[in-house]
Amino acid sequence: MARQRSLRFPNGFLWGTASSSYQCEGGNTNNQWYRWEQEGHILTGEQCGDACNWWEDAEHDFMLAEQMENNALRLSLEWSRIEPAEGQWDSGAIDRYRAMLMNLRLRLLKPIVTLHHFTEPIWFSERGGFANEANIEYFVRYVKYAVEKLSDVCNFWITINEPNIYAVMGYLLGSFPPGEHDIKRTVLVLRNLLQAHVEAFYTIRDVQPVAEIGCCLHYRLFDPANERSPLDRSTAHLQDTFFNWQALQALETGQFLPPLKLMLSPLSHASGARDFHGVNYYTRELVRFDPSRPAELFGRRFVRPDSVHNDSGRGINFGEIYPFGIYRVLKSVYQRTRGNKPIYITENGFSDALDDRRPRAILEHLAMVHRAISEGILVRGYFYWSLVDNFEWAEGWGVRFGLIELDLEIQERIPRISASLFGEICRANAINEDIVERYAPDALETVFGSTNGASYQVPV
Ligand code: FCB
Repeated sequence: MARQRSLRFPNGFLWGTASSSYQCEGGNTNNQWYRWEQEGHILTGEQCGDACNWWEDAEHDFMLAEQMENNALRLSLEWSRIEPAEGQWDSGAIDRYRAMLMNLRLRLLKPIVTLHHFTEPIWFSERGGFANEANIEYFVRYVKYAVEKLSDVCNFWITINEPNIYAVMGYLLGSFPPGEHDIKRTVLVLRNLLQAHVEAFYTIRDVQPVAEIGCCLHYRLFDPANERSPLDRSTAHLQDTFFNWQALQALETGQFLPPLKLMLSPLSHASGARDFHGVNYYTRELVRFDPSRPAELFGRRFVRPDSVHNDSGRGINFGEIYPFGIYRVLKSVYQRTRGNKPIYITENGFSDALDDRRPRAILEHLAMVHRAISEGILVRGYFYWSLVDNFEWAEGWGVRFGLIELDLEIQERIPRISASLFGEICRANAINEDIVERYAPDALETVFGSTNGASYQVPV
């Protein structure tokens, strides 16, 4: 019998899911997102409410992750619980997080803990949040407190999730709090978040010298709608540089790329201030030059019309399912950093309520990750977003990213087919032909074929 084809992942590869406090815990009423929600900004009019009830019982979902033979799980701490008023610390919140992290460890799930995932206490926003450089010290003080309290149960920290999304959505596109449309404030916030990361890095390093510390950036590909149009090409390039590479470049060298270099002071002590690169990748968009959109850097963005795509939200289009993109992103990060640090895919996921595209998408994205690894790019882990359907920010409950479906009313979990697929991959630490045959036979060629991804470079 012919040996079955298989894409094996390196020993010790981390397999898990990613989540965040506001989206899963429930009962968070003391952060700027709660206030934003109360002001009626959620596009579906929904509320986060009890979310996935993790504050009461995250352990049930941890059990499901364990059954899927994951070996890691990414969650975040809610700053507004730990420091509900400026300088006041709630040891009860720390106790609850300690219990969660201990529970993960008992299940042999390595805790990966994010210290800031979009939310912050209302008192901190009222002081101007990250638009005010002087506020960085409050964040760093919270980080020090949290890490001192929890360093015996966690040694892998993500300081800040997606500074680029936080800045762009909150200060340029206005769909996240504080809902501004101001390019100058956007880049200032980006700078302050990156500086906050650097300072948090050294603080954690002092408290816990053995910790692995990084932050994660969101990478979104922008390709020209018409390859032959110089205007489309330069607009796409502008968006790509602004959104994807400014932050990475500043973290690497302290300096921003032009034109931000002229507007922002360099970061101090940035270079070397992390142990890994966190990559969050979801999609790509096409960009057409459009002089009527200065706020979007003169580009109209849209999803490639004939693409297989994610369920879209009311405001955000979650876009094309584009597996080759994860390879392109990994390769660019590797090249731009000269492979100086390992990479973790800290988020990758698909909104697909019916779960009719997700299995194939997971397999094809992982095949691309494998391709990157086989070319020498040090990828050490993959975190699917997300374990259970959760509260998707401005989109409320309207889009469903979970491997496990959540029936919100009765808090019931219904594992999707993708959950068993992901479990099989984690267990095998590989994608085997037989797994692909059973879950997405159409993907046999794209996963194992000699083209291995080239077929995605469909000319537009
Ligand atoms: C990322 C966020 C995460 C989730 C996914 C779908 O940008 O980090 O919280 O909302 O998108």
